[in-house]
Amino acid sequence: NKISMIGVPLQHGADRIGVDMGPSAIRGSNVQHRLEALGYQIQDLGDIHVNKMIEAYAAGEKLKHLKEIRNVNSRLCQVIADEIGKGQFPLVLGGDHSIAIGTIKGVLQHVNKLGVIWFDAHTDVNTEETTFSGNIHGMSLAVALGYGHQELVSIGGIDKKIRSENVVIIGARSIDQGERKFLKEKGIRVFTMHDIDRNGMKQVMEEALEIVTNGTDGVHLSLDLDGMDPDDAPGVGTPVSGGMSYRESHLAMEMLYERDCLVSAEFVEVNPMLDQHNKTARTAVELIGSVFGERIL
Ligand code: ARG
Ligand code: MN
Ligand code: MN
Ligand code: MN
Repeated sequence: NKISMIGVPLQHGADRIGVDMGPSAIRGSNVQHRLEALGYQIQDLGDIHVNKMIEAYAAGEKLKHLKEIRNVNSRLCQVIADEIGKGQFPLVLGGDHSIAIGTIKGVLQHVNKLGVIWFDAHTDVNTEETTFSGNIHGMSLAVALGYGHQELVSIGGIDKKIRSENVVIIGARSIDQGERKFLKEKGIRVFTMHDIDRNGMKQVMEEALEIVTNGTDGVHLSLDLDGMDPDDAPGVGTPVSGGMSYRESHLAMEMLYERDCLVSAEFVEVNPMLDQHNKTARTAVELIGSVFGERIL
């Protein structure tokens, strides 16, 4: 019940300003008090340093802001590894989704067989060969699996990677052509919005939890707020309509808590600049409450 909170004000992976304010928007929505009320001890480590001076990317650079994204994720990886080594539970606040690289690589320094639940409208398994946008937040899951640019795959050690059979993606509804091929080839289990519509979140989560806990030593939750419906989480850089509802998302978090398998979690892509009343950060904090054991009654 000891949580280390780490902000990562990175925007370079989304190449869109505002998502770097995600950590302060989430902190400003009282995440610490909410968790303390549940009996946790919170240590807020502040933000990982991000060089804000690099704005324009070099023309012709295929992966935008590769160097700075590598640097930030290397630092994050180290901090995560240190915190887990001290017995702390890392709670990472983003920032764009490229920060999953550093988080997962850091957890892998201590947890050999790691399951991953990837909540997202997207699947983030592009590589430099398949990306249309050049945005690294669309590549982070591929990197965690060991595929992609060497500068990213080598963070925390090239041998540190997750296995495709230990990963599930939940809520997908926007998948690029190259990503479809990747997901099929690697045999990654994707629970799309169609599956949630058809079978309900309860069944989807039961199956998902079975997959990520089977033969693993712990589970990481990587939650991209754009996995939710834009009605509930409008402040995201790449919204896609028809997402997970507020109740479905809470049920998923509550079932995750009941399973008691998490070793780390991150909440990413909160962009308060694209939001009206900080709704997305507030939603994120409510989901954080549920995944750490908050109940209605
Ligand atoms: N597939 C698109 C791309 O690669 C969108 C990725 C969006 N990723 C995210 N973490 N929001 O550019
Ligand atoms: Mn830029
Ligand atoms: Mn997404
Ligand atoms: Mn994502």
